[in-house]
Order: sequence, then structure tokens, then C-alpha cells
Amino acid sequence: MAYDDAIKALSNDALKFVRDDYVIGLGSGRAATALVKSLAKLIKLKGYSIKGVPTSLQIKLTAEKGGIPLVEADQVGHIDVVFDGADQIDSQKYVIKGGGGALLRENILFGLAKKVIVMADKTKFVKNFTRTVPIEIHPLARTTVVESIEKLGGNAEIRTLDRGYPFFTENGNVILDCDFGVIKNPKTLTQKIKQAPGVLESGIFLRKPDVIYKAKDNGKFDII
Ligand code: A5P
Repeated sequence: MAYDDAIKALSNDALKFVRDDYVIGLGSGRAATALVKSLAKLIKLKGYSIKGVPTSLQIKLTAEKGGIPLVEADQVGHIDVVFDGADQIDSQKYVIKGGGGALLRENILFGLAKKVIVMADKTKFVKNFTRTVPIEIHPLARTTVVESIEKLGGNAEIRTLDRGYPFFTENGNVILDCDFGVIKNPKTLTQKIKQAPGVLESGIFLRKPDVIYKAKDNGKFDII
């Protein structure tokens, strides 16, 4: 079964964590998009008074289309539940995020949330992280952060668009995609990454999800 079908199936189930009057964090990416579309239908069906907090313009546009009322993160004291995707999930339940470049706002919402729900297909689950870690940095810290990453044993590449132009985040920053090989101690690594001046966010989040949905090939899913 295609990725989209599997994620759609579990995003409908994840709506059981939604209650009337909730403030809901809306992550970014394909899984979050599927959830937001299902959430929009639920709100209309039940007449819920929900406020959504977007993590990117991408998800904001989807939420607006679905008629979900929106507020920004600095207008709320807490978030009841945040729904988001992930780029990789390790056996300790740490997540790598930022494949779409929304990691800074996503981690702010993880920090505000009473409950974090992550949804991903089975290809994202690994024993130890193997993919690159997105790190959002101020453009002027580029050279020094690349050196810091190398000292940590990593290899940093600035993220570019198809035609070679640098990718800028919605916060006006750039992303370094950093290859550390197999990551056995993600907590220590992300703490060290964040010590370098000019680093604004690391794609390895310290806050682990409370609930993880794992989509399988046959359209079914596990809840971890
Ligand atoms: C956005 O920056 C990311 O953290 C996404 O949440 C992550 O890349 C997962 O996206 P998909 O659900 O599209 O795989």
C-alpha cells in the first residue's frame, strides 16, 4: 500500500486524542498534512472549538483550507496535543526531524505540548539513527558551525534547492545536513551540537513522543 494510504489510515485513528476546546499543534510534512485534513473534517462534524498552532506555512495553508482556526505559538500558554511526522525514529524513541526545514518551530511546539504524537511509516524506524541530522543555523555562523560539527565527527553540507541556491527556513536561517554515520548516543550528540554559537536548533529532539504510530505496508498500523 502506498505511503499516503497508510498514513491516512492512522491519522484517522490518531484523532481519538482530540477533545473539544483543545489547542492542537500542527506539525509539517506529509503525515501532518494527512492528520490536518482528517482534523478539519472532525471539527466540522462535531462542531468542536479547536485552535490549531502551525509549525510552517506549508501546514498553515492546509489548515486554512480546512477551515481550522489558527493561532501562533506565542499566543498560547500550552498545547494539549501536537501531531507531527518524523524523518527517523530510533529504538530509544528519539526522533530526527527537519527534513522539510520546520524543525525550529516544531521543537518549540514539542516543548509546549502536554502530549506529542508522532506518525511515520515503517521505513523510518531504525535501531540507531543512520540518516543526516538537519541543524538550523544563523547564516553568519556557517563556517564556525561546520568546524564544530567536524570536531564532533560529522560532515556538514549546507542544504540547497534543486538549482543550487541555498535553502532558507521560514525563520531566515540555513540548514546544515550533517552526517554522523550511525548515532548511538543521540542525547549527548544533540546537546553538544547545540553548544555551538549560531546553532538555533538540532533535528534530534530531546523531547520524546508520548505516542508513536507506525504505519505498515498493508494499511494497518502499530501504536508504540
Ligand atoms: C519537517 O521539517 C519535518 O520535521 C517533517 O515532519 C518530517 O520531515 C516528516 O515528514 P513526512 O511526514 O513528510 O515524512
